[in-house]
Amino acid sequence: MQKLSKAANVYDAPLAIVVCADHTKTWTRPFDQKQTGDIDASILTDHMMLEATELGLGSVWICYFKPDVLKKEFCIPEEWEPINILAIGYSNEKAAAPDRHRNMRIPIGELVSYDSLT
Ligand SMILES: Cc1cc2nc3c(=O)[nH]c(=O)nc-3n(C[C@H](O)[C@H](O)[C@H](O)COP(=O)(O)O)c2cc1C
Repeated sequence: MQKLSKAANVYDAPLAIVVCADHTKTWTRPFDQKQTGDIDASILTDHMMLEATELGLGSVWICYFKPDVLKKEFCIPEEWEPINILAIGYSNEKAAAPDRHRNMRIPIGELVSYDSLT
């Protein structure tokens, strides 16, 4: 955690998982060479977050980190890209109200557009 704190603020969590994409193994879309490693890593991170919640743990998804420092501190291979850090621990905050998104997020009408199939 000392090494990790040089690269990111993990809010004194006792555990953090650095999720990386291995660019030698990620699927590449042939039409534009888009690599899906960041998507795969985020699906993984999301599932770990859900499981942490299921276990009664708190977690924070962290992208605000220094990738170069992280790679150096943990000797992460050159072709691995750190995508997300998931900090995990027992939260000292109450769970946020589920209806907060109604006030704090872009309204669904603006976020989703519908197109007629006819
Ligand atoms: C892609 C992504 C990156 C994030 N990076 C950070 C981060 O670097 N530091 C942080 O404190 N929280 C980070 N968060 C967490 C958000 O600040 C926020 O706590 C989270 O989206 C939950 O908000 P909500 O429950 O109100 O939707 C990130 C969230 C996402 C989805």
